[in-house]
Amino acid sequence: MPTDTNDESFEVATRRSVGLENELQAHPERFRMLTGDRPTGPLHIGHLFGTLLNRVRMQDLGVDVFVLIADYQTITDRDAPERMRDDVLGLVADYLAVGLDPQKSTIFAHSQIAELNQLMLPFLSLVNVSELQRNPTVKEEFAAHGAPSMNALMFTYPVHQAADILFCGANVVPVGRDQLPHLELARLIARRFNDRYCREEPYFREPTALLSDAPLILGLDGRKMGKSRNNAISLSMDEDETARLVHAAKTDGERRITFDPIHRPEVSNLLLIASLCTGEAPESVASEIGDDGSEVLKRRLTEALNERLRPIRQRRRDVMKDTALLSALLSRGNERAHTVAAQTLGDVRALMHMRY
Ligand code: TRP
Repeated sequence: MPTDTNDESFEVATRRSVGLENELQAHPERFRMLTGDRPTGPLHIGHLFGTLLNRVRMQDLGVDVFVLIADYQTITDRDAPERMRDDVLGLVADYLAVGLDPQKSTIFAHSQIAELNQLMLPFLSLVNVSELQRNPTVKEEFAAHGAPSMNALMFTYPVHQAADILFCGANVVPVGRDQLPHLELARLIARRFNDRYCREEPYFREPTALLSDAPLILGLDGRKMGKSRNNAISLSMDEDETARLVHAAKTDGERRITFDPIHRPEVSNLLLIASLCTGEAPESVASEIGDDGSEVLKRRLTEALNERLRPIRQRRRDVMKDTALLSALLSRGNERAHTVAAQTLGDVRALMHMRY
């Protein structure tokens, strides 16, 4: 089943992903990577350890990195809020703060790239309504949204996401498991386009998912970490706010601190976050704290977080002083993405016999 994240397709994706990591190391110049975020608020440590640091690593390896700000995708389940511009520029600031370099990587917003969006028309003709109806991630998002009926953009945004990926010929897309159905759809669209319009000489290459091997971290309340759940440490937060949030974190009644993710998910999650910040194994953080209890754990975690995030936060504060520069850097990325998209749309029209 092309658009399903059952265990079998997950396994296949995992195998492909492992091979890909080796190839990326050996031949970074063969790869164009595309990743993206919805501009719905400040990025947090889940993003940092899950994907942002990896993007910087790829950039520094010499992979051609495209970073997409998926502003149109936010209106699948909310109105475009008045703070959209701030959220978008805030994302640019987050990217620069963690070390993405706009000289090397292309940071752009998909609403600004008309030719990218126009690819959605031919792509829509290549998928069936029933295939879109099966997409488990869209189903979940619809259920979480709680609206009485699904708007047509939410229904079709995976096709738009395929345009995000295929317009620039990205061959590697770092994603979490929830995004795999979308990636399968992008692969399917690439294949069907090639079959229909250029069987002899395939035009689109099929992108491969690069699955993160970073351990999943939870929010400080033990639930999924989310931008709007008040359970996440964001990159833009200050040290006092960090301390307050960690202080309020959920733990359990046992005084002795041990790393036991199955039986003690909340305490183990705090240990894991501390470990990601310092590089020390979570078990050893736990044994150092021993019987000193969760107050000491929280103090250590606060220190670890604030220390790890200090240079990132400093840089973020610096770049936020000049939002005109942030906007100019984004425009430059948009310009570069535009050039690539115009070329692709031109090629696509030619292959479809639509050049008159
Ligand atoms: N759907 C992604 C998310 O919710 C964002 C996104 C949009 C994306 N277009 C993309 C991710 C293309 C990877 C590739 O986070």
